[in-house]
Amino acid sequence: MTDGVQQRQPVRALVFAASLRTSSLNTRLAELAARTIVACGASVDLATMAEFDCPSYSGDAEAEGFPAGAEKLRDRINASDAFVISSPEYNASMPGVLKNVIDWTSRIRPQPFNERHGLLMSASPSMAGGNRGLWALRIPLEHLGSRVYPGMFSLAQAHGAFASDGSIADAALQERFEHSIAAFIDQVEASKHYPCVKKRWFEYLGERPDPVIDRVE
Ligand SMILES: Cc1cc2nc3c(=O)[nH]c(=O)nc-3n(C[C@H](O)[C@H](O)[C@H](O)COP(=O)(O)O)c2cc1C
Repeated sequence: MTDGVQQRQPVRALVFAASLRTSSLNTRLAELAARTIVACGASVDLATMAEFDCPSYSGDAEAEGFPAGAEKLRDRINASDAFVISSPEYNASMPGVLKNVIDWTSRIRPQPFNERHGLLMSASPSMAGGNRGLWALRIPLEHLGSRVYPGMFSLAQAHGAFASDGSIADAALQERFEHSIAAFIDQVEASKHYPCVKKRWFEYLGERPDPVIDRVE
């Protein structure tokens, strides 16, 4: 600290696309996000959806233990201050593979989404850029206590939107993308100065406490 001005804290973000497809548009957007985060002075852990793939959730399978994909996601979230997910929109919602790993990971204690900052983005050939899917994705993440950034970036007509260097060809849109990432990283960094915002996580906030149904951390 000098002259009352606090040093900027290091920020680390896990970034991945929720697509298993080889030529995924969301992977391209996630890679661009990773580059932009590094340009903002933060560090990045760039992952793939395949690393977090899990068998379909079932309580019986859980009784046998957690799959490696969920444990890996837990570890990678825990090692980061924030996560950035670029998710395809499937039928106006998120892909099942993503919801499945969120469900698995939410069963691990302590559950890692609580208090973690999240930025959501999407890429789609459609005119809406997959934005409806992100509203669906917010629900489980906010329920789990993540601080999901209000701004969500959705790249419309993404099949024709990228330049050969991986940036967004439309300069104004590229600038908006960079601004969005920078504002998110600034918020994550700022929150590191305020540990008092830490909170407990309740699965059913507002319900009478009862040890039979409580899942509280
Ligand atoms: C099962 C399925 C449902 C889809 N539903 C939507 C949709 O609701 N909205 C949309 O914009 N695109 C939809 N698409 C098209 C995807 O956005 C497109 O395939 C996209 O490229 C997938 O992301 P990826 O390139 O990262 O794999 C759907 C694709 C599939 C396979």
